[in-house]
Amino acid sequence: MANASGFFTPSIPSLRRRIQPPIGIYRSRLCSPEGFSKMVICSGTIHGEEKLSSGASPSESRIPRLVSKGCKLVGCGSAAPTLKVSNDDLAKIVDTSDEWISVRTGIRNRRVLSGKDSLTTLAVEASRKALEMAQVDPDDVDLVLMCTSTPEDLFGSAPQIQKALGCKRNPLAYDITAACSGFVLGLVSAACHIRGGGFQNVLVIGADALSRYVDWTDRGTCILFGDAAGAVLVQACDSEEDGLFGFDLHSDGDGQRHLNASIKENETDNALGSNGSVLDFPPKRSSYSCIQMNGKEVFRFAARCVPQSIESALGKAGLSGSSIDWLLLHQANQRIIDAVAARLHVPPERVISNLANYGNTSAASIPLALDEAVRSGKVKAGHTIAAAGFGAGLTWGSAILRWG
Ligand code: ACO
Repeated sequence: MANASGFFTPSIPSLRRRIQPPIGIYRSRLCSPEGFSKMVICSGTIHGEEKLSSGASPSESRIPRLVSKGCKLVGCGSAAPTLKVSNDDLAKIVDTSDEWISVRTGIRNRRVLSGKDSLTTLAVEASRKALEMAQVDPDDVDLVLMCTSTPEDLFGSAPQIQKALGCKRNPLAYDITAACSGFVLGLVSAACHIRGGGFQNVLVIGADALSRYVDWTDRGTCILFGDAAGAVLVQACDSEEDGLFGFDLHSDGDGQRHLNASIKENETDNALGSNGSVLDFPPKRSSYSCIQMNGKEVFRFAARCVPQSIESALGKAGLSGSSIDWLLLHQANQRIIDAVAARLHVPPERVISNLANYGNTSAASIPLALDEAVRSGKVKAGHTIAAAGFGAGLTWGSAILRWG
């Protein structure tokens, strides 16, 4: 994501000094009609690992960017597998209970891929619904961003989605891997492609099937996750209508030890040389281990870093927690959602949560919850949403958006 700022004019600091803007997003007419007639300066922050390790505030450095084009969210869709697994179902395979799971996490059910279900099929279904709502023809999509950590092809799933949607002009399609932060990173990437790359209709999909990487004998993790897909159509618009007000993105590789599903070599697959000795070549075949998580550490990280990130993004948008319509966090644990909302002074009735029905669906959780909230009439055109993702990597980030 560090390149994201490269899409924009590098001489911004001098503009910034001249204008001395008081908040993070400004609409101004800086140039003659022959040049950029309408520009928006908005701020985002992208930080590296030192922030989490040092515990420093994430809002120290701003990267102002000059925007000559806006982007807005015009359609959403979602899909989940049909197989529903309740807490009571899980209590039959591990030593747990509905009470323990619902009190500690807020989760009651989750959906799990089964039979002929595939993640790609779910992603395609969610995408079709988003395109339908946006009234955009698949042929008019010029970029597909598939945010997933569980692709069904090692080389990426996005081109298969492009093909299944029947996008005849073969738009660019690629995957973004950032676990539960993937969708927020995808949204910001879409905005960068639109603002700086001339793209018009970007389909951002968040989809994951962590059930394939869960150790179903480990009660500490198997109770948390579910599978799903969600999609949003981000469309180019006039800068005056821009719907991404501010963002804030981070990563910290040091925290990977608390949450990972690392590659492991197949121990029984030693390559034997002609004399029978074990050689280092060819390499052993590899696969991924099941999800390893230190729940307490991840909880602490989320409760500390997510509010900081949202406050930073809100600051750049010139907004406060009390002025947003909706808080939409990655759906990992209701206790995390409640703690972040309390810290930001957002009352419970303005917090979106569907965790009870789906569990933690990783990159899908934000677009899935958004889609339900839009279709139920909760989120209306013009509403402001503070969205934040966090998870493996570690990665975390926030975006302040307007729906519609
Ligand atoms: N059922 C019953 N008992 C359990 C279960 C279970 N499913 N799991 C753990 N326990 C027991 C433990 O063994 C422990 O027992 P002990 O006290 O006798 O040792 C006790 O319950 C407490 O366990 P903790 O792990 O301390 O429980 P905690 O309150 O921390 O809750 C949880 C665990 C729910 C995992 C919590 O830590 C959490 O939600 N962490 C954040 C996870 C998260 O947000 N992940 C997001 C990223 S996901 C991604 O990016 C892929």
